[in-house]
Amino acid sequence: MNFDKIVDRSGTNALKLEFRERLFGTEEVIPLWVADMDFKAPQEVVETIRKRAAHPLYGYTNRDEDFFQSIVKWQKKRHLWHVSRDWVEFMPGVVPTLIMAIQAFTNEGDKVVIQPPVYPPFFDVVKDHGRVIEENPLLDTKKGYRMDFEHLERITASDDVKMLILCHPHNPVGRVWNREELTRLGTICQKNKVLIVSDEIHADLVHGDQPHLPLASISPELAENTITCMAPSKTFNIAGLNTSYVIVPNERLRKRLQQKLQAYHLFTGNMFGAEALKSAYKDGEVWLEALLEYIRGNIEYVMDFVEQNMPEVRIHKPEATYLMWLDFSAWGMSDAKLRKFIIEEAGLGLNYGPTFGTQGKNFQRLNVASSRKVIEKAMAQLLEARNQVAR
Ligand SMILES: Cc1ncc(COP(=O)(O)O)c(C=O)c1O
Repeated sequence: MNFDKIVDRSGTNALKLEFRERLFGTEEVIPLWVADMDFKAPQEVVETIRKRAAHPLYGYTNRDEDFFQSIVKWQKKRHLWHVSRDWVEFMPGVVPTLIMAIQAFTNEGDKVVIQPPVYPPFFDVVKDHGRVIEENPLLDTKKGYRMDFEHLERITASDDVKMLILCHPHNPVGRVWNREELTRLGTICQKNKVLIVSDEIHADLVHGDQPHLPLASISPELAENTITCMAPSKTFNIAGLNTSYVIVPNERLRKRLQQKLQAYHLFTGNMFGAEALKSAYKDGEVWLEALLEYIRGNIEYVMDFVEQNMPEVRIHKPEATYLMWLDFSAWGMSDAKLRKFIIEEAGLGLNYGPTFGTQGKNFQRLNVASSRKVIEKAMAQLLEARNQVAR
């Protein structure tokens, strides 16, 4: 559990490294973009996969009862959510789940609400499947990002709005929505017959005093109108195993989603993913606590560094995730120029703000799930580039 140790990812076809040329036009950038971590998975998970891999038969596999029970236990332990085993269904990833939900519960031309700036695939899953995006932009206030409920009330009153995809905790702004916010959002959607798909993939990566509160755990009424997506992939750095799950208390919704899973023949899943989930949820908590402490340290480091050296760059300290949303508006550059500058002058491969929506203008997303030395180097490079221009 030495997160300071730099792990060499070369030779693993890691997207974070291999896509640099394609995305940034050069390999000469420190890759701090796509949301995975540069840390080894918990040793228990590694051993579990090794053990399974040692049996040289990799045919179709089923998920055993232990898979579902470990999810039930994890939700109870980490999120105080009493989930019934029957509510849980395997899914081969959260983004595929969003697509299946869109196909199961909306028709072409229907509107789906998202709250930008938000995780770019939220746009794709709606547009690529012939549905229409209805934006309910977040408000960037001095105290942090907030939801615009008046606007949400107005847009959801329209009959063609059928679904809202919630990002909770929110990528990229790092908000952990509180009980009041969730209740208000949930009530507005319920009243207007707008189904909520709550993407809670970052639920385990919370930093502040306020714990993650699953939307569907708030009341039976909200539970009836919510499909919750979760996964061990962000938490334990096992996204390449493509294993997630949904929690759907409403039997009618669950059955329809299960039908989609059948229709696409995606139900077999990845056998290593199933084993990894069980192992991570059973034995991964000590590792997770250490990881969270390390990430908090990285976040603090960046916050302090920016405050001391480039206070004109605005950041709301994330309440969750290992992602930081940096506002470079004060540098007065166009987005294209800022992008080029970050790549060519600072030598950093970050996520380009406008891909998160028009609200991402002048922003870049920084992934701090890397060893402290790497983050220190990245910040030093950013400062040096900025000072050269400022001089
Ligand atoms: C909010 C959010 N949802 C979903 C995903 C991806 O989920 P999956 O790999 O299970 O499709 C990510 C990855 O960054 C994410 O940030």
